[in-house]
Amino acid sequence: MKYLIANWKMYGEASQVRTWISDVSKVNAQANASLHVVLCPSNVFLSEAKRYAAKLPYVSLGAQDCHFEKHGAYTGDISAAMLKNAGADYIILGHSERRSLHFETSEIIANKCRAAVKASTIPIVCVGESKSERDAGHALQCVQKQLTESLTGVKGELIIAYEPVWAIGSGQTPMLEEITAMHQFIKTLCVEMQLTRDSATCVVYGGSVNATNAASIMALPEVDGALIGSASISSESFCAIIEATRSVTPSDAKYMASRA
Ligand code: PGA
Repeated sequence: MKYLIANWKMYGEASQVRTWISDVSKVNAQANASLHVVLCPSNVFLSEAKRYAAKLPYVSLGAQDCHFEKHGAYTGDISAAMLKNAGADYIILGHSERRSLHFETSEIIANKCRAAVKASTIPIVCVGESKSERDAGHALQCVQKQLTESLTGVKGELIIAYEPVWAIGSGQTPMLEEITAMHQFIKTLCVEMQLTRDSATCVVYGGSVNATNAASIMALPEVDGALIGSASISSESFCAIIEATRSVTPSDAKYMASRA
């Protein structure tokens, strides 16, 4: 079962949540629930989303960030436990927009990751090189550093999102061979870090995924799913991605039964 994770960022309206969940559920059901869809809307829409998603087995919910403490005097922040309570089973952490615009270090991200696991949510940890790092031939070293530092002391189920910074929102993607090589590298690294015993760590790709390129990216055996930003906000474009990938993502009856 492959993941399709919708990162709405700071977009969307409350009125869109219901339509999005019902449209996406319908299309995913027609595709025999071949994808594990996770909607990560703004936190203010989570409770609303939980109400609609609870009735349907085809959409899970996630948040886009959390604080590393359970509670405290942190004005404006939200803990992982609070997000879990509002409906999030997943939390995106270390997105490049948070690393650059909110100056989040890998140490902060590791703290958040441990908090997310403790709150019984699954962290989706983002890593990825800049254009200059790739051009200089340092992509692997950059991802290795981010990964080891962002996962210090983290024990539990997690998803890694490989998101090259230069591919986010740019319309550019790495070549398929480059995606394969990086995902293999990340899976091997996770074994070396003893995060998983085999190469079972779930690694999804993110950065300019759309209905045109999704099928070829999702068909790669090393790619366990996609994290989608701009093409995830309207239900039409997200459903088009589900339709495009259904032939490369066989259904999983066990998952269906577990959500029923
Ligand atoms: P994009 O964003 O799909 O718009 O490139 C991906 C992301 O930032 O997670």
